[in-house]
Amino acid sequence: MADNDNHWHDDKCAMAFWDQKQAKPYFELASDTIGWAAPKANESWLDIGCGGGQLSAGILQGTKGAVEKVVAMDCARVNEVAIGKLSQKLGLPDGKLSFAHGDLSFGLPGIVDNSFDGVIAGLSLSYAESKDPVTGKYTDTAFRSIFREIYRVLKPGGRLVFSINVPEPNFWLIVAKSVWPPTRWGKPWRLLTHLMEMMKVCRWLKIEARKGRFHYLPIEDLKEVIIAGGFSSVEWKESYARQAFVIRVEKPSANQKSAAA
Ligand SMILES: C[S@@+](CC[C@H](N)C(=O)[O-])C[C@H]1O[C@@H](n2cnc3c(N)ncnc32)[C@H](O)[C@@H]1O
Repeated sequence: MADNDNHWHDDKCAMAFWDQKQAKPYFELASDTIGWAAPKANESWLDIGCGGGQLSAGILQGTKGAVEKVVAMDCARVNEVAIGKLSQKLGLPDGKLSFAHGDLSFGLPGIVDNSFDGVIAGLSLSYAESKDPVTGKYTDTAFRSIFREIYRVLKPGGRLVFSINVPEPNFWLIVAKSVWPPTRWGKPWRLLTHLMEMMKVCRWLKIEARKGRFHYLPIEDLKEVIIAGGFSSVEWKESYARQAFVIRVEKPSANQKSAAA
């Protein structure tokens, strides 16, 4: 595979990950993430790296549709189809759930400052990638920058809740915990095909993470990046069969800022 290839842009990869919701550990991860997000009526949310829209759905269902809006963003254009279907399935009015095509490696251009009450991101922020233009080596510039960007688009008092894989995640453990017992399989052949595609991608992700292209960091290193992005206290816990952290941080409200000054 050429160095600049990125599986996340492929339809086949994106569609395989729509089936992640069938995995038991993913169910644990999604409920931990939505539980910490605790969305409220009239709030606006941004779902970065939305995939098939599981977390967007969680935000909408958690408020019985009373959020003002959810914007679901992803680099894979085919995810627009999933978001459209989700909107129909939930019977949402126009504009309540919309799709935005975008690559988080380039930040959040076009999103105005202080515009969202919450940002949610499920296993996606690790994939912010950048290279040193001189050496051609991978850097953490884009990864650091996405936290500053999220801080920028959050309203004062707004919260970021995201999950991110631990270093050297054991994706086989997720598979093992997902396929057993087989009585839970909806469409076994489809699930098997998608599992094989997901495992191919997961192998690639680990190889690229070791090169520094993607970012699976220990919690202390993650905290440093998040705090450098502008956030203050970091709450975290393990989830996803201990293969991911769920992290919650807040942008200080105007009052907190002036008290600290
Ligand atoms: C493991 S999947 C998780 C999907 C979804 N958040 C969920 O919880 O089901 C990672 C998602 O991040 C998206 N992604 C990866 N790199 C991205 C990038 N550079 N910009 C935007 N989205 C990206 C992928 O397309 C994919 O949908």
